[in-house]
Amino acid sequence: MLFYIILFTAVAILISVLYLRSMRPVDVVYYVMNFMSRSGLMTFLVKTGLNKKMRPKSTELVAPNGVRFMAPSAMYGIILEPALKLKVRKDDVFIATYPKAGTTWVQEITWLICNNADTETAKTSPLTARSPFIETIDIGTENKGLQSIESWPINSRRIIKTHLPYELLPQEIFSESGQECKIIYVARNPKDLCVSFYFFHQMNLGMEDPGSWSEFVTNFCTGNVGWGSCFTHALTYWEKAKEDKRIYFTTYENLQKDLKQEVISIAEFLGKDLTQDQVDSITAHCSFSSMSKNKTVNYSHAKKYGWDFQKSKFMRKGQVGDWKNHFTLNQNEAFDKLYEDKMENADLDFIFELE
Ligand code: A3P
Repeated sequence: MLFYIILFTAVAILISVLYLRSMRPVDVVYYVMNFMSRSGLMTFLVKTGLNKKMRPKSTELVAPNGVRFMAPSAMYGIILEPALKLKVRKDDVFIATYPKAGTTWVQEITWLICNNADTETAKTSPLTARSPFIETIDIGTENKGLQSIESWPINSRRIIKTHLPYELLPQEIFSESGQECKIIYVARNPKDLCVSFYFFHQMNLGMEDPGSWSEFVTNFCTGNVGWGSCFTHALTYWEKAKEDKRIYFTTYENLQKDLKQEVISIAEFLGKDLTQDQVDSITAHCSFSSMSKNKTVNYSHAKKYGWDFQKSKFMRKGQVGDWKNHFTLNQNEAFDKLYEDKMENADLDFIFELE
């Protein structure tokens, strides 16, 4: 009897190993994560606080195309490879940003523009399922990532979220067959970006521990955080947007100044005609007061993945100029010097406060 148990176990292990070896690492992670989620292991880690001890570290990686990249974790290479190889569709829209620049805001606006301002569906279906994030795997039905992007229904437009720098976008974008997709890039003034990113690190235990505010400012300034230097990130897209008509470049501050006009401009860029009523309805739906209360966009569902909303809400303040409440005089002076240095040759000016 013992012999048969050992034999059966050995065969089962052999088959599993062979099966796993034929799978891409990203799909192995997908099965492991989904197992953890369904078996309650994830909930156990969150409830016992063990997830706090498992926080990743930002790590510099060399992507398969040779580009150096400051990844938010050492595991990121697993997603980079298939992301680079993604087959691009003619009607794809990429929402590209440095984290905290207003990604969610523009994802929701874009999804509504592409879906006849259907605010009813937008209020019932999570944005993380309607607009997948290429740098993650699918977890459950709510959080759609790479696997869903690859198998997305052909008759439905993909609105793909990414924080990847320009050089690490799916490489087909740069070839003949990827010429018709669109990219919307959203930048944000780096001081508010730094504050928002700090609170995001505090709240999202799946990110590196940010340390103290002053430690975080130092790391942010040197690009020693996930996704690297926000200056290089924005300036590369900015320069490319000048010659590449597939890129629409805007800023968080533009959205704050005139949301309605931005809705109209993004719709024009995507070749979508909106009625005045549709523009009004998208603008109202996407105000900060409306989005911060809306469960389909405010990430309240992420509590079960260990996001600590005691530390900060995802929809935190939604303002231009909150940096003034956090930067000390010295930090501000040093940041201004860095800004001058980084932006010296750039014809891009950020707005740090609204009149
Ligand atoms: P704060 O932390 O400064 O409040 P992302 O989606 O890229 O992670 O960006 C999140 C930031 O955008 C947060 O900034 C969030 O409050 C802000 N934001 C999201 N939706 C917004 C909206 N409708 N109006 C203004 N700000 C919004």
